[in-house]
Amino acid sequence: MNILQILLFILPAYVANSTPVIFGGGLPVDFKMKFRGGGRILGDGKTWRGLLAGLCFGSLTGLLEAQLCYSAVIPPSLFMNFTALGFALSIGTMLGDLAGSFIKRRMGIKRGHPSLILDQLSFLLFAMLLSLPYLPDGLLAVDSVVFLVVLTYLLHVLSNIVANRLGLKKVPW
Ligand code: CTP
Ligand code: MG
Repeated sequence: MNILQILLFILPAYVANSTPVIFGGGLPVDFKMKFRGGGRILGDGKTWRGLLAGLCFGSLTGLLEAQLCYSAVIPPSLFMNFTALGFALSIGTMLGDLAGSFIKRRMGIKRGHPSLILDQLSFLLFAMLLSLPYLPDGLLAVDSVVFLVVLTYLLHVLSNIVANRLGLKKVPW
């Protein structure tokens, strides 16, 4: 397992997952519609602006990595199809995020309330699945996947505590 290569691989997904918090707002993706007469399909936490921001900034991260690879700032030994991976990871991240909210609403969990598994791992799972066609051989072996799950979990906990201390979030989770 090459940790630097794994971090470069997953970076667009992390960027796509965190930029909606900054740029999101406005029209919800579900147009405020309800699911089979019950609760909201996705809820107000999923907006078109957030979705576009995640797709744009995640994909841009991949393009930037490709440029750094081309100019050999990223060593050739770590070569990946960064451009394709950036797009695939960003689309996967946003789909996984929507799927996570859809499942949370069906479980009766209100918008913004935590779900240990769905909040952090649905985006990671979808991102990894969509990146499969562009993965370098053997990058996502079992140990790498375990590493990414643990890292994503720790980053999620840490970023929420920081956001809480900075006054961006009322609760530290
Ligand atoms: N956000 C957005 N559009 C998205 C994803 C996120 O605008 N597609 C913004 C929203 O302001 C959201 C915040 O980023 O409140 C945090 O995202 P997230 O934690 O995924 O949403 P929650 O509000 O917690 O809603 P849910 O319970 O559905 O996960
Ligand atoms: Mg949340």
